[in-house]
Amino acid sequence: MTETLPGAAIPNPTDEAAITAAVDQAVAAIAGAATLDELKAVRLAHTGEKSPLSLANREIGKLPKDQKAVAGKLMGSSRGRVNKALADRTAELEAENDARILLEETVDVTAAPRRRRAGARHPLSTLQDRVSDIFVGMGWEIAEGPEVESEWFNFDALNFKPDHPAREMQDTFFVEPPEAHLLMRTHTSPVQVRSMLEREVPIYVLCPGKVFRTDELDSTHTPVFHQFEGLAIDRKLSMADLRGTLEHFARQMFGDEAQIRLRPNYFPFTEPSAELDIFHPGAKGGPRWIEWGGCGMVNPNVLRAAGIDPDIYSGFAFGMGIERTLMFRNEVGDMRDMIEGDVRFSEHFGMEI
Ligand code: PHE
Repeated sequence: MTETLPGAAIPNPTDEAAITAAVDQAVAAIAGAATLDELKAVRLAHTGEKSPLSLANREIGKLPKDQKAVAGKLMGSSRGRVNKALADRTAELEAENDARILLEETVDVTAAPRRRRAGARHPLSTLQDRVSDIFVGMGWEIAEGPEVESEWFNFDALNFKPDHPAREMQDTFFVEPPEAHLLMRTHTSPVQVRSMLEREVPIYVLCPGKVFRTDELDSTHTPVFHQFEGLAIDRKLSMADLRGTLEHFARQMFGDEAQIRLRPNYFPFTEPSAELDIFHPGAKGGPRWIEWGGCGMVNPNVLRAAGIDPDIYSGFAFGMGIERTLMFRNEVGDMRDMIEGDVRFSEHFGMEI
């Protein structure tokens, strides 16, 4: 199809039979082009500079004056035929092409979709992120600490005396050998001490993380669970700051109608200490008070253990369980559902809770 018809004799532009033959040949080739690419090659061969018709056209200049008009007319109508054939075939092939593409790219909107399960983040993770976001929004930082902790950080530095009965408050997994004094942290409070040792005051940190206690697994207990510990150390911090912070946090989590209540309690690492209750306006079975966590003003002994002068600085701390929060916030009746790893449990919460 790409023939440039080399060596073909240049037809005489006054020789109607020869010109018609060239035109017929061109029209036949155009009709025979099966694709737009083939048609392009045919166009070059039959209308390009070196095509018989173009060469014949060029000869007109050399003709005696009286023949020029006849030849011009003949060549004009010849090129008209060829161009029309080209235009028609182009339109045909383009239409064919469009029809083929339409067919090839047909989308069957009635076909059953191929479902790909997106999976889901675990609601404990999304809840932990939400809590972190609320504190980051208040300018706090997120702090982390190890899960295998030294006994000193988990108890001693937090003012648990060696024979203090409070050590018994938290049933502990110790790590062998005993002389290493390592344990699985029983709460996130050791990060209080680590944060005070590692950071410069003022300190505003939130530590979410995993904790361990020798509890049997049942609907409200699990030996591995999550807490978040908050710690603020600054000049002149008081119980009022603790209350205000927790109230804001509670409202972010449970809505503007949420309230908090502090009841006296005891923790070795805070003085005074309080139990924190939340009034949950959206609780299942109606609005009610729910025990949520512990809090208090950081005990001066803890500040001293971390090298902070209690005459200049004071601080508050609080700690809550994430599983417990998820239970009453999202009406999860059985804690075991949270740890069984069945993706249907997570999917039910969606990507945001
Ligand atoms: N660490 C305590 C617990 O696990 C909670 C707590 C944190 C209490 C901070 C007071 C201050 O029970």
